[in-house]
Amino acid sequence: MNDSELTIIPGKASQLLAARVAAELGCEVALCEFRRFPDGELYTRILDDVEGEHAVIVQSLMADSDLIALLQLIDAAAEEVSRISAVIPYLGYARQDKKFKHGEAVSIRAIAKSICANTALDSIFVVNVHNPAELRYFTVETRELDASSIIGDYIRRRDIDPVVIIAPDGGAEDLARAVAVPHGFDYDVLHKKRLTGDVVEMKTEELDVSGKNIFIVDDIISTGGTIAEASRILKEQGAHDIYAFCVHGLFVQNAIIRMYHAGIKEVVSTDTVESAFSRVSVANLIANSLSALE
Ligand code: R5P
Repeated sequence: MNDSELTIIPGKASQLLAARVAAELGCEVALCEFRRFPDGELYTRILDDVEGEHAVIVQSLMADSDLIALLQLIDAAAEEVSRISAVIPYLGYARQDKKFKHGEAVSIRAIAKSICANTALDSIFVVNVHNPAELRYFTVETRELDASSIIGDYIRRRDIDPVVIIAPDGGAEDLARAVAVPHGFDYDVLHKKRLTGDVVEMKTEELDVSGKNIFIVDDIISTGGTIAEASRILKEQGAHDIYAFCVHGLFVQNAIIRMYHAGIKEVVSTDTVESAFSRVSVANLIANSLSALE
């Protein structure tokens, strides 16, 4: 595909990442306006002319309003262009991917349906979705991009030795393996039981972490409870320095303080959710996938 035919439309939640993707591709970024009406409703407008081009909307779904803005951007772009892709670096609501209790919504299914309802949408890209099986709810072609090599390369560059990659629970085991194996790092997994919304109990497997430097890797850090508990257990087992690395850094409530109190030396995330801890970018990963489009 000719990248010059492509215009990046940055959602409010992913301004910096959208600009980085555009820089990687050498294509234009459209200027957009986002504001609220007095009653609180969102107003979204693409200010630049994107007529006839392939529009790529980049918008993570962190807050509820991010979904509204994404739907508005798709709607606005559909008036102007022949082709629309949506890059959703962080796909929010993905952890409610089944009915845990009677009467609950399968939130990610509802979100997927609303995004895919606009038939002008051609393709969707997400980065390390919480559970890849939930992509079946998307009726538009949806590709999952994997940031594990970006994480592994970062850890390699830090040149910390000896290093062990730890998954804080079984759900993160695939990510830990994908980070560790290409670089020959050791990896292992902890097992977690969530007692309430933000209280987590963890049991270890046979881990020899004594004197080792640990990178705990997880897809999401939200309240930091999972990482904090993992850190305490690993410290008790004699781990040396402990770092936390996630793909999607939500860092809600007092997550950062909570993790540092539990002995975490450093927190690192990608820029799927932009924060001061976004030390590596998924822009190149996204740009390469867009370049590969027919
Ligand atoms: C859960 O299944 C995810 O993979 C993360 O482990 C979880 O979202 C982290 O949440 P928190 O930071 O609140 O413990």
